[in-house]
Amino acid sequence: MEPMVFIFVSLTVCLFYSLALGSHLSQAPINGRKAEDTWRREAIQKLWDERKDMSYTPITHLAIPGMPDVDIIFKNESASRTGNLKHRFSWALFMWALIEGYIGKNTTIYEASSGNTASSEAYMARLIGVPFVAVVPNTTEDKKLERVVQYDGRFIKTEIGKNFDRAQLEAQVNNGFYMNQFSNADKAEEFHQSNGNSKESTNVFHEILCQLNDEKIGPPHFFVHSAGTGGTISSVGRYVKKYLIPTEVVLADSEFSIYYDYVVNQRFKREGGEPYWVSPGMAGTGFGYSGPAMHGKTTSLQPSVIDLAFKVPDLASTAAMHFLKKIGISGGTSTGLNFITALSLAAQRRTNSSNNDKLRIVVLLADNSTPYEDTYFNFSWISEKFHSHGGIPLLKCWERAIEHSYKHGGDPLKRGSLKCKRSFSDRYRRRHVPL
Ligand SMILES: Cc1ncc(COP(=O)(O)O)c(C=O)c1O
Ligand SMILES: *[C@@H]1O[C@H](CO)[C@@H](O)[C@H](O)[C@H]1NC(C)=O
Ligand SMILES: *[C@@H]1O[C@H](CO)[C@@H](O)[C@H](O)[C@H]1NC(C)=O
Ligand SMILES: *[C@@H]1O[C@H](CO)[C@@H](O)[C@H](O)[C@H]1NC(C)=O
Ligand SMILES: *[C@@H]1O[C@H](CO)[C@@H](O)[C@H](O)[C@H]1NC(C)=O
Ligand SMILES: *[C@@H]1O[C@H](CO)[C@@H](O)[C@H](O)[C@H]1NC(C)=O
Repeated sequence: MEPMVFIFVSLTVCLFYSLALGSHLSQAPINGRKAEDTWRREAIQKLWDERKDMSYTPITHLAIPGMPDVDIIFKNESASRTGNLKHRFSWALFMWALIEGYIGKNTTIYEASSGNTASSEAYMARLIGVPFVAVVPNTTEDKKLERVVQYDGRFIKTEIGKNFDRAQLEAQVNNGFYMNQFSNADKAEEFHQSNGNSKESTNVFHEILCQLNDEKIGPPHFFVHSAGTGGTISSVGRYVKKYLIPTEVVLADSEFSIYYDYVVNQRFKREGGEPYWVSPGMAGTGFGYSGPAMHGKTTSLQPSVIDLAFKVPDLASTAAMHFLKKIGISGGTSTGLNFITALSLAAQRRTNSSNNDKLRIVVLLADNSTPYEDTYFNFSWISEKFHSHGGIPLLKCWERAIEHSYKHGGDPLKRGSLKCKRSFSDRYRRRHVPL
């Protein structure tokens, strides 16, 4: 059609409708939305009630005998109602999905998870009265799955890395909603202050600053956490950047995860990390067993809000879990990884100053040791799964390196990497034995 003819025809059509219908202004209620709107308001109210019941998870200081000028502060997320860091995160995801209208009173929620998010989301789903199905890797700890069932959720097991597609498919086929924590953490997690309403913001770092302030202590010099979806550490990083807080945000990454390279070298944005992934990794942390790390799509880890990244051998993180237990601290996989990173950072950055301003490092205690009793605290499991990493002898070696750092100071990662190597004969043999 010639442009002039097209414009003429369009104007004529518009004129006709305006005349015929009286006006081009229009309004209409969205048919049948009222019942859903009422349900949504009630569901959101239930979340606010839950939020009011959630007290701040406690912080605890750990003195390091070998580094008296260092204050390690655990933010104890294991004290939350569903026992892990994902309680506040699941709350935020549900709030987001309700507001966006993705969840109705008859919507089944599907989620891909390594277990912790699954149990916390199952709790939130039950709270608002919708069914929940977790799609989990077959390596997921039974204890985490028991919790899903305890909150009336169901689970489907798949091969590791296949659970993402499966969750999406199940949601599609069953007309449900795929929550997709990996991409949507980014949209759901808040990074604002509370201004007078202390419970308004669920940001974990907001809580930490309030708690330190109550103790008349300033912001920490460092915040250390690992990343699974990257949601938690990115929400902290954003908060720190937005409010100009003098805290460095430190990513503790597991041995075969691609997140370190993703943050430091901008790699793995297009290509997947599968060839580099070595099971079992540190459960709940790291990325690489499935596709490229694309921000907002497959991951919520935002590299631009991270200041520093560490890569830690998995046996060293496991040894840290064991060491923590020995000194009376019950922590899971990421807690071990976070703690050894914090010790290393402490050894590097401490000033040996005798004044009161200690080097403060906040470490997330993401969950406790209970789900890992049969795995990371089970010596047969370790010697089987970490055989190619050096097994029990190297676990013990790393534990000594950590203990030395704790008692006498010094960097446990540096010490361990010098002392805790597989023997030459081990490495030689390995090359000739299929793994
Ligand atoms: C024990 C544990 N630590 C850390 C993480 C990672 O947290 P995020 O997904 O917020 O990066 C998870 C995630 O499942 C986890 O289960
Ligand atoms: C974390 O909280 C749990 C539950 O309240 C408690 O049993 C545990 O001792 C706490 N851990 C630390 C390190 O304070
Ligand atoms: C709710 O979902 C169930 C199961 O999918 C279905 O049988 C039922 O008809 C749905 N009810 C409404 C009101 O949509
Ligand atoms: C998980 O599934 C894969 C593929 O079927 C299998 O090779 C592996 O042994 C399974 N792992 C567990 C712990 O069941
Ligand atoms: C702090 O003291 C320890 C032992 O006294 C020493 O090895 C270390 O180099 C000192 N660190 C700094 C930053 O001065
Ligand atoms: C410890 O690990 C071994 C090897 O994986 C396994 O057969 C055993 O059942 C585990 N023990 C417990 C108590 O889970």
